[in-house]
Amino acid sequence: MTTGKVYIFDHPLILHKLTILRDKRTGHKEFRELVEELAMLMAFEVTRSHPTREVEVETPLAKMKGRSIAGQEIAVVPILRAGLAMEVGVTRLIPTARVGHVGIYRDPESLEPVTYYAKLPVDIAEREAMIVDPMLATGGSIVACIDALKQRGCRTIKVMAIISAPEGIKKVHDAHPDVEIYTAAVDSHLNDHGYIVPGLGDAGDRLFGTK
Ligand code: PRP
Ligand code: URA
Repeated sequence: MTTGKVYIFDHPLILHKLTILRDKRTGHKEFRELVEELAMLMAFEVTRSHPTREVEVETPLAKMKGRSIAGQEIAVVPILRAGLAMEVGVTRLIPTARVGHVGIYRDPESLEPVTYYAKLPVDIAEREAMIVDPMLATGGSIVACIDALKQRGCRTIKVMAIISAPEGIKKVHDAHPDVEIYTAAVDSHLNDHGYIVPGLGDAGDRLFGTK
């Protein structure tokens, strides 16, 4: 299903795994495995329209024409911390992708993003960047990440977030209307602490068992 530049997945496997992910009884081992699996399934859908080119391949029986991935090469860009588990899933599917890490946390009082680390592939300007973060809440972290990528010349940017809030989608598109957002759910709203409702709680803490 498509709404403007937001693509909301409706694949039964994605919906099923997302429901288990949301459940407060799901422990961090299963939570991490589910995030990896969801990221893999989402990346499968996101790359559906990626260009291919004809190549010759020789099977044990004959030569034939096959197809290989072509076009812009991909850089997966996880936002630390929670994006790390998604990166594992995406690179399992696209093992040759380069990875750029961007460290951003949200100030708990102001909810403003604080960027503390960025290490990107040297040729990021030529690549398609796929930002991965399980949560798109106020949108501040993703906007800061897109800003950092664009400052380094990156022009093709996609965002993969497992759960998004309407407020965050609006903020990203107001700042960067060219960026496509792929998500498994758009939830109701943010609460007073900037958490997505119903959401899944704190993604980083649930992934890494830090609370
Ligand atoms: C979480 C999440 C996003 C951010 C979303 O990270 O993984 O990066 O919040 O919120 P926003 O859309 O309002 O910016 P968090 O700030 O908790 O950092 P952490 O992963 O290091 O714990
Ligand atoms: N970050 C999270 O981990 N969860 C939310 O609901 C919002 C921001």
